[in-house]
Amino acid sequence: KKTIRDIDLSNKRVLVRVDFNVPLEEKDGQMVITDSTRIQETLPTLKYLIEKGAKVILCSHLGRPKGQRDPKQSLAPVAPALAELLGTAVEFSEETTGESAKAKALALPAGGVLLLENTRYHAGEEKNDAELAKGLADLAEVFVNDAFGSAHRAHSSTAGVADYLPAVSGLLMEKELTYLHDELENPERPFVVILGGAKVNDKIEVINRLLEKADTIIIGGGMAYTFRKIVQGISIGKSLYKPEWEPIAQAAIDKAKERGVKLLIPVDAMITDAFDFDAKKLGNTKYTGVNENIPEGWEGVDIGPESVKLFSEEIAKAKTVIWNGPMGVFEIKESAKGSFDVAEAVAANSAAKTIIGGGDSVKAVKKAKLADKMTFISTGGGASLELLEGKILPGVACLQEK
Ligand code: 3PG
Repeated sequence: KKTIRDIDLSNKRVLVRVDFNVPLEEKDGQMVITDSTRIQETLPTLKYLIEKGAKVILCSHLGRPKGQRDPKQSLAPVAPALAELLGTAVEFSEETTGESAKAKALALPAGGVLLLENTRYHAGEEKNDAELAKGLADLAEVFVNDAFGSAHRAHSSTAGVADYLPAVSGLLMEKELTYLHDELENPERPFVVILGGAKVNDKIEVINRLLEKADTIIIGGGMAYTFRKIVQGISIGKSLYKPEWEPIAQAAIDKAKERGVKLLIPVDAMITDAFDFDAKKLGNTKYTGVNENIPEGWEGVDIGPESVKLFSEEIAKAKTVIWNGPMGVFEIKESAKGSFDVAEAVAANSAAKTIIGGGDSVKAVKKAKLADKMTFISTGGGASLELLEGKILPGVACLQEK
């Protein structure tokens, strides 16, 4: 795809779709940003545009306000946060499109930055409405999509607007596609894929696609119990499981055999007799032995030390590692160890390209304070997953080819 390096930007009004869908928390009546990673990750693109003398007009969604103005989901707090990170003034427009937004866009000097209010204050955004797309396009002369985290959405600001402006990718978008797509086409081997998460059916497309590329697939998290039931023949108590997941898991096991891909599943677990996710509480907990049954009334909430050992040995041999999905309920302290230990194992392999493919595995790596030890950490959640599934993302498909 064409990127901002391939076009003339000087003095051009450039509409940049960013993913500033950052977590906010109310403190003393003010909305405060609790994690600004997504803002920081756009800085290379924004600095490049400023340096080239572009007039930068930023747009993003925040939360899911469903077409209504909602002060708690305003992008207003992002403007001062961005200004501080960029070291330059950032103007804010309370309108996303229309005359007042246009006036502010036209008044921008070369290198100036304007942030527009939440695109999802408009009901048309999520319908990919042409009026809204035209309204956004009317503010600028070029469209840059740097919102990888929203690229799986076919919305007015992520895809529709490209019908009306020359459209290229930003540097974050380019980097995400390099690590989550290009690198995986011809990975340096051994290529080890670590997949976790709760439900087999949510991850089956990723498993199937990566079974075609990987040397080893490691399965952890809630979905591992279905695999353990089949492969080890153990009883799994009340661990996450649905009968309809069994044929899906069985098909993956067969495909792995057929293709000579090593499929590693946990051999032990941390189990509990009570689990309240909302209260972040477990009842009694203990580790099972290797390939031991999980008793009636108990459920697995994390992988155990023998699984960590097994997985770590494999991770240590890898030249490329991609990880998507935690090993257990890492949000609760007692059941976070498996995910943290796997994060340690990935971080310890400095000879490998280590790619953290979005969502909860990113949270686990950050909680383990190992983010700066990884080669690449995605800013996408749903977008990373869909890209790893091999899907075409509308926010990428709409960009010009080189
Ligand atoms: C995300 O946080 O994954 C993206 O910003 C997309 O948000 P959405 O799921 O509300 O479309």
